[in-house]
Parts: sequence; structure tokens; C-alpha cells
Amino acid sequence: MNDLKLAAQIIKDGGVVAFPTETVYGLGADATNDEACQKIYKLKARPATIPLIVHVANIADARKIGIFSSNAMKVAEAFWPGPISIVVPLQKEARISSTVTAGLSTIALRVPANDIAIDLIQCSGLPIAAPSANPSGYISPTQAIHVQEHFAAAGVMVLDGEASYIGIESTIIDFSVEQPTILRQGFITAEAIEEVIGETIGKLDNSTTLKAPGMMEKHYSPHVGVRLNADTLEDNEIGLGFGKISFAHSYNLSMNGDLIEAASNLYAYLRELDKQAVHEGYARIAISPIPHIGVGIAINDRLKRASTK
Ligand code: TXA
Ligand code: MG
Repeated sequence: MNDLKLAAQIIKDGGVVAFPTETVYGLGADATNDEACQKIYKLKARPATIPLIVHVANIADARKIGIFSSNAMKVAEAFWPGPISIVVPLQKEARISSTVTAGLSTIALRVPANDIAIDLIQCSGLPIAAPSANPSGYISPTQAIHVQEHFAAAGVMVLDGEASYIGIESTIIDFSVEQPTILRQGFITAEAIEEVIGETIGKLDNSTTLKAPGMMEKHYSPHVGVRLNADTLEDNEIGLGFGKISFAHSYNLSMNGDLIEAASNLYAYLRELDKQAVHEGYARIAISPIPHIGVGIAINDRLKRASTK
């Protein structure tokens, strides 16, 4: 049996498999199997109140699970397969486990732009619930090796693919509410969505952020501290640069100041710097300013949470 068939069989048998997507690696299980989905929560030590995103192979399969308004359809058609998850009311007859939805009457759906992910979904014939494949609260994984570091010991099969080229989790847009609202910033920006639907969408500000399940203030966090908007390093710091600001013996997210390149490098560099900081006894990672435009908004969202104590 090849790896893909074996992985699909593990999913069908109620097991957990890690797989690549264009955003980050996911830790997947059969979204219709309650026990299987509970294994994901256990492996990640994830609070049961945070629902999972369900991955499907195409729009037709998404519509078997969720009820799509015409605006939700426009967004699906414009951006799938791709880095956006769409929250819609759950179809009553969809057999999705209540562990996946954390008991909500809505569901987050996504068609990933990754051949291995799509093959896994199609070969198993099941919708696959998958959060990012990291212990709850830690930096998300963008390479198979990151996932192996966390879950190989637990015997989780990791489908090996390329590094996730987007590098940050999908944008989440909620169409189950009156005004469509961005719940999580990502590569697909609010402006891009507004252009597709021809309407203004809501953006969660800090006061409402906690109303979205799982949008925790502290997240994506290295073991050591994080200081933002740094131009220079303090004694006990290791640095992460961007554009013209570089630090000695360190990484630069994008020497050219390219935000798309910066997003794709972000988690791998944070993981490396975290290891180095722990190993060499630095207290913090200092990160240079990231322009708050385009995908920079999503990068700054992740960095803000990473720096929250
Ligand atoms: O890029 C991604 O989205 C990756 C890859 C693997 O697809 N997945 C991912 O999953 O980032 P996770 O579990 O780390 O983040 C899922 C987020 C959570 O913050 C959760 O609150 C939100 O999706 N979510 C899921 N279902 C929801 C719902 N019905 N309503 C509102 N938010 C929901
Ligand atoms: Mg996550």
C-alpha cells in the first residue's frame, strides 16, 4: 500500500493523519466520526470549546455540509481551492460530529490548494476535520519535520509534502451572521473579499475578538518571549528582521520587504529562533516592524498574539 492509501485507510478507520496544505500542516480525522475527532483534541491538548475547520475536495461537497448564501458562493468560487475558510450554517442532515463544531449550528469549511490534501480527502471519501498540527498555543507547522517533532512519538503518520507556501493559517470569513465578518486575518484580505461580494465586511476589533471561538489573545507563541517593532537588539535578545532591518547572526523574513515571502517564512524562522534562544539562553525574540498592509495585517495579528504573555 502506498503512503496515501495507507493514510486514507487510517482516516477511514477512525485514526489521525497529518497532511500538508498550502497554509500550514493539518492534523486530520474523519469529520463524521466523533471518537476520531476527539483524538485530535487530545493530541493537541486543545480546549473542547474551539471548533475545527472541515476540509473538502470541492464546492459541491462543501454544499452537502453547509448552507451557502449567494455571497458565500461567490467567495468560494473566487478563492477555492485556496487559503480561506468559510463559516456557514450547518446542514441539518450533514453527519458532522458535534466535537468538530463544538456544538455550534455553524461550520467552517475549506477546500485546500494542495494535491496531497485533496488526494487524501478523495481517497478516504470523507470530509476531514483538521486544525493546525501543533500543540495548542504553539507556533503552527509549515513543514513535515515540524509536525514530526511534535507528534512522531505519538505514532501519528505524517504525509510528507512541500513546505506550506502561504505559511499562515487561512483567512476565516463568517457568512452565518447578517454582516459577513472576518474572524481571522489571512492571505486573502478583507479588501479582496469586498471586491468579490461588492459589500463592506466587518472586521473583528480587539473588543470583539474574544467572541469568536478559539481566537485567543495568546497564541502562536514560542517558548521564549517576543518583542515587537524592534530596531535594535537588547542584550538578552535574538532578532528577526524584515526588509532593511537585519540583525546579526539571525534571519530576515524578506530582504526585499516582500510581505508574501515574509508570511511563508514566518513560522519556520520563529521555530528556529525559538530553539536557538532556548539553547543559548536568550530571553526574547525581537522582531522588526512589519508594514500593516496586505498580508502584513495577518502577520501582525499572529505576532501580536505570539507576543502576548
Ligand atoms: O489554514 C488553516 O485554516 C489550517 C489548515 C490545516 O487548514 N487550519 C487551522 O485550523 O488553522 P485551527 O484549528 O488551527 O483554526 C481553526 C479556527 C479556530 O480558531 C476556530 O475557532 C475557527 O477556526 N472555527 C472553526 N469552526 C468555526 C465556526 N463554526 N465558527 C467560527 N469559527 C470557527
Ligand atoms: Mg491552529
